Amino acid sequence: MTEFNITLLPGDGIGPEVVAQAVRVLDEISRRIGVVFHTEEHQIGGCSIDKYGTALTDETLAACQKSDAVLLGAVGGPKWDNPDSKVRPEQGLLGLRKGLGVYANLRPVKVHPALVAASPLKPEKLAGVDMIVVRELTGGLYFGQPKGREIVDGHERAVDTLVYTDDEIRRVVRMAFKLAEKRRKKVTSVDKANVLESSRLWRKITIEVAAEFPGITLEHTLVDTAAMRLITSPAATDVMVTENMFGDILTDEASVLAGSMGMLPSASLGDAGAGLYEPIHGSAPDIAGRGIANPIGTILSAALMLRYSLNMEKEAVMIERAVEKTISDGARSADLGGSLTTTQMADLIIKNME
Ligand code: IPM
Ligand code: MG
Repeated sequence: MTEFNITLLPGDGIGPEVVAQAVRVLDEISRRIGVVFHTEEHQIGGCSIDKYGTALTDETLAACQKSDAVLLGAVGGPKWDNPDSKVRPEQGLLGLRKGLGVYANLRPVKVHPALVAASPLKPEKLAGVDMIVVRELTGGLYFGQPKGREIVDGHERAVDTLVYTDDEIRRVVRMAFKLAEKRRKKVTSVDKANVLESSRLWRKITIEVAAEFPGITLEHTLVDTAAMRLITSPAATDVMVTENMFGDILTDEASVLAGSMGMLPSASLGDAGAGLYEPIHGSAPDIAGRGIANPIGTILSAALMLRYSLNMEKEAVMIERAVEKTISDGARSADLGGSLTTTQMADLIIKNME
């Protein structure tokens, strides 16, 4: 019998509510094909700070490292938002990404035809939008040293460092090209090479990688132009690859195309070991505990987990089709202007799995 070990990190805010529904979907897969998912739950983020004084304990990281995949809900909330605090929920997420070596964050953005009206963009702009953003996840400004605050000449001074090495760039860009091979064969590399040295290295390495993939078209776009084109011509993008912070910003922008952030999944992958799967929406403290969060981002993250970490493509597609059918049938949670609860939405998706 096939068995997998999955670490669940529900985290904060709506995290536990949406992860619980993705687990129900996995249970349904289990029931249908006899595969066994052993799940073990651990704390991360604010709830871990409350219990252990740190956003990620060594035990939690070790449990994640030895599992086949990690499914995470969200971290953070107003309770832990004091900017002077030494411990922050987000440190848990960054430590986990680094500790798992998941350097590539895949964020697919597709527009379901039935949700076109939910997006603020004109419908004609949205036709054919189907992109995947590959965000570098373990380098750049988020991790560069030196980082910190000090008093210099009577002024408080803060430093973050944007640093990349050639190998960090090469591996994530290669991942983007490999994805493009199975798609529309186009890679858009986003940088700020007219200003930043790290971007000039990014561009040089990207050109070198492109030479390994003669069938793929490479285009370079400056990040400010990329931000504009995501709105003016979103359907033109197939695979977009970019550094950590640009990717953070551009994927929130791109999520608007899909009608709601609540719809979007992500997969964070390295070369080996557990992948990390999480919805992109965050902890949504304003609606936490009310049972109205959209579980689709997390359910689709579980589908990505089956695809990329557990080699279960057929079952991944089964989940994705069920979500599509559910949306086509008119099911809407609050973020999509409807009134279905988190559980009701998952009930319908499970019913549509076949
Ligand atoms: C994301 C989030 C995180 C990030 C935060 C919570 C640290 O915005 O996953 O996009 O910036 O990476
Ligand atoms: Mg973000």
